Amino acid sequence: MPPEKNVASFPGLLLKKGKIKEQFYGVIKELILSGQLQAGRKLPSSRTFSEMMSISRNSVLSGLERLTDEGYLVAKRGSGTYVAAVVPDDVIGIKPAAPDKQTGGETHSPDVNPQTQVMKQLWQETLPHSGQNLTFNIGVGCSDLFPHELWGRLLGRTWRQFRHQDGRLNEAMGYRPLRRAISDYVRTTRGLHCTEEQILIVSGTQQAMNLAAQVLLQKGDEVWLDEPGYDGALGVFTAMGAKIRPVIGDQHGMDIAYGIRHWPLAKLIFTSPSHQFPLGGTLSLSRRMALLDWAAENDAWIFEDDYNSEFRYTAQPIQALQGLDRHQRVIYAGTFSKMMFPGFHLGFLVVPENLAEHFKIAKYYADTRTSYLEQTILATFIAEEHYARHVRRVRKACHERQRVMTEAIQRYLPEIVGVEPSDSGIHLVCWLSEDIEESTMIEHCRKAGLGAQPLSRYCQTRPEKQAILFGFAAHSPEDIVAGIRKLAQQMAKE
Ligand SMILES: Cc1ncc(COP(=O)(O)O)c(C=O)c1O
Repeated sequence: MPPEKNVASFPGLLLKKGKIKEQFYGVIKELILSGQLQAGRKLPSSRTFSEMMSISRNSVLSGLERLTDEGYLVAKRGSGTYVAAVVPDDVIGIKPAAPDKQTGGETHSPDVNPQTQVMKQLWQETLPHSGQNLTFNIGVGCSDLFPHELWGRLLGRTWRQFRHQDGRLNEAMGYRPLRRAISDYVRTTRGLHCTEEQILIVSGTQQAMNLAAQVLLQKGDEVWLDEPGYDGALGVFTAMGAKIRPVIGDQHGMDIAYGIRHWPLAKLIFTSPSHQFPLGGTLSLSRRMALLDWAAENDAWIFEDDYNSEFRYTAQPIQALQGLDRHQRVIYAGTFSKMMFPGFHLGFLVVPENLAEHFKIAKYYADTRTSYLEQTILATFIAEEHYARHVRRVRKACHERQRVMTEAIQRYLPEIVGVEPSDSGIHLVCWLSEDIEESTMIEHCRKAGLGAQPLSRYCQTRPEKQAILFGFAAHSPEDIVAGIRKLAQQMAKE
């Protein structure tokens, strides 16, 4: 039977409204996927299709060409066009997987590295707190102030220039002009001692910690963490089998003397000297010097998490530990996710010269390199001083938002007996009256639609005093007042 007749009898060849060439493509593809046009079947000529369906021959040719490019059809010179022997969707597995018949779709515990169980447990402990509620959630900067239009223009420019480049400047350590821009920036703003050869671009602090753990630690090594401290760090170091040593602190940051007294064998110290997470203390100069001396004498490494240093409102920041270090013991981590927005996912490490090669290789085997496009735009953004301007704008707005939230809490929430005064940071630590439990307060927050976090989430032992944390940076002053009032109303109801 001639193929023309056969095809003419397919009901699917009726076209609906829309662009004809796309419809023709869709109809033929559907006939192939449903098996009505089988592998190896010869198709009618484009002229026949066009006459049969009363559509232009150009539409037919365009549809056939696309189907051929995508592998649904095969054109044989001098013979015609055929349905391909193997449909691409079969190769790439587009069909939904059927449930496992033997188990009725149930999953069994797979045979995985037991260390993942430890990670899973930590994940489950923090999961209940990381709900969908974004209002007053912590860790988010002034994402509403991100300069979208400017970024869009730089993106267009970068894309146009990309045609003349081939991305060779994007090495495993990162895009070289970005590394240069960052090294110039942190030398002037944070007092770091570094060259671009020591800068490694990463996808945020989380990756930075993972690389540091891989390069510097062995299973069983001791790691100091702030208590309370950053749960992201706890996860990374626990997962790789380190022994976690909690070190208490106060308004002057981590208590270095306590750490040395209790855990003198530590291999790595993880801390955020410019703004201790989550309580906000600044590591004093004398503690900085004591930590650096002790690390040099004991061959210990210091991971300086400088995630919040740009959010400082009145006083001058103390020079970063890295800039004070004379013995190359500090691994400095900076992130852009607070200044830009949480999904931005670009950060950097400044590593000692003699570790640069090791970190580069670890990064290469982690993901070969960070994606090119965002790095190139950010390099221009920093080099043309848009970043410095953005930081000034964000700082001003944040300072105001912090003041507004502090006043609103003092006015509307008597259950909060103290708001930790702070010259920096993007969240407030709110100490609770003894009459109310942290969990009750968090429950009220959830009912009022607020994503506040309990202090206990970041503690390995029960804290003496209870507190909740409110992020203020991502909301306008009006929204801040409205959120606090809503919580007060919610509490008055019960
Ligand atoms: C203490 C601390 N360090 C670093 C970060 C930044 O992490 P990342 O760069 O992976 O977004 C955060 C984010 O919330 C943080 O709380």
